[in-house]
Amino acid sequence: MGSEENKYNIKRYDLSEDRSLKAWSAADEYLLQAFTDLEKKPNHLGIYGDRFGFLGCNLHSFTPTLVFTKKSQQKAIDANLEAHNIPLLNYSDPLSPLEREMDFALVNVPKSLELFQLYLEQIACNSSEDITVICAFMTRHFTPKLLQIAQEYFEVAEQSRAVKKARLVVLTKKKSTLKKELITTLDYNKQNYKQFWGVFSAQHIDYATQFFLEQLEIDDADECILDLGSGNGIIGNEIFKQLPDAEIHLIDDSYLAVASAKLNIQGENIHHHFNNELSIFDDETFDLIVTNPPFHFEFEINIQIPIQLFRECYRCLKEGGNLQIVANKHLNYKVHLEPIFSLVEIIDEDKKFIVYKCIK
Ligand SMILES: C[S@@+](CC[C@H](N)C(=O)[O-])C[C@H]1O[C@@H](n2cnc3c(N)ncnc32)[C@H](O)[C@@H]1O
Repeated sequence: MGSEENKYNIKRYDLSEDRSLKAWSAADEYLLQAFTDLEKKPNHLGIYGDRFGFLGCNLHSFTPTLVFTKKSQQKAIDANLEAHNIPLLNYSDPLSPLEREMDFALVNVPKSLELFQLYLEQIACNSSEDITVICAFMTRHFTPKLLQIAQEYFEVAEQSRAVKKARLVVLTKKKSTLKKELITTLDYNKQNYKQFWGVFSAQHIDYATQFFLEQLEIDDADECILDLGSGNGIIGNEIFKQLPDAEIHLIDDSYLAVASAKLNIQGENIHHHFNNELSIFDDETFDLIVTNPPFHFEFEINIQIPIQLFRECYRCLKEGGNLQIVANKHLNYKVHLEPIFSLVEIIDEDKKFIVYKCIK
């Protein structure tokens, strides 16, 4: 693609220190190209899956609505807009009705096809009859399920040729479908946990989380606790059952995770935070921090982000407080934790997972 289409030097502005990681993909470029080639521009464009703002910045003059799912995404997009003196865009979360009907949408297909379906559900419920949706993905990530989902909502799903290993599917002729329930449920420890489509581990409790809950060391004296990367809130809630008087904070970068956790755990001493950093907490706030930390970010594996979060955990723990982590063994977090914490113990391990206790 020529530089006249992509006018901006988009940066990631995330917690990762690796500056070689790209802030957009060939799928984003293909979406921009397809939109640039349109003879008649739409009245109201919706943009989905714009991770760092490549599409939002390049298409800002069409005053699109940008549907975000992550706080880190919103922050990166704002930072890129500010760096290029572009006024802020209209944002929407993926659950709320849009203020205006869309007649065109660009979708960078996420790794979670449940999330893709949630996008299409919002598009179907908030668009004119003649809407066109262009979806883009890297060819190696294609699965026939993507087309099956698209065809639940649209009669026509036409695939393009591949360009730089990316491909488009153009959806037209919207079907009239009944609005669907966007929530799935899973059972654990006699409780039915709810979660919106696209939230981590939908069908059953994650195996690492289950192993963690069996090993967690909770002290009756723990007064202030943080569940970092809380997902549907299952870890925080299982602790809450044991320590109903503790102050429990749950934080997640995903809007849908926080919305799900709010369905599963509530109370006067429960605090939900939609955020991707611990800078919102003072030094020495927590007695205990628990986490099944993220290391998959869409199709990218990146352990710099959890390591950055572990450093922040240290700052937010009281003297003598501890961080407990469950992780895949192969990530070998111990080497990264030992320079941060005075003591790193292994509570338990099996063939695949390990639980660390890191004491400040
Ligand atoms: C492995 S999942 C664990 C979810 C849940 N605790 C469980 O055990 O089922 C990791 C979670 O971390 C969240 N996450 C990713 N980056 C984050 C960040 N920078 N800050 C807070 N949460 C983050 C993801 O959205 C995801 O919900």
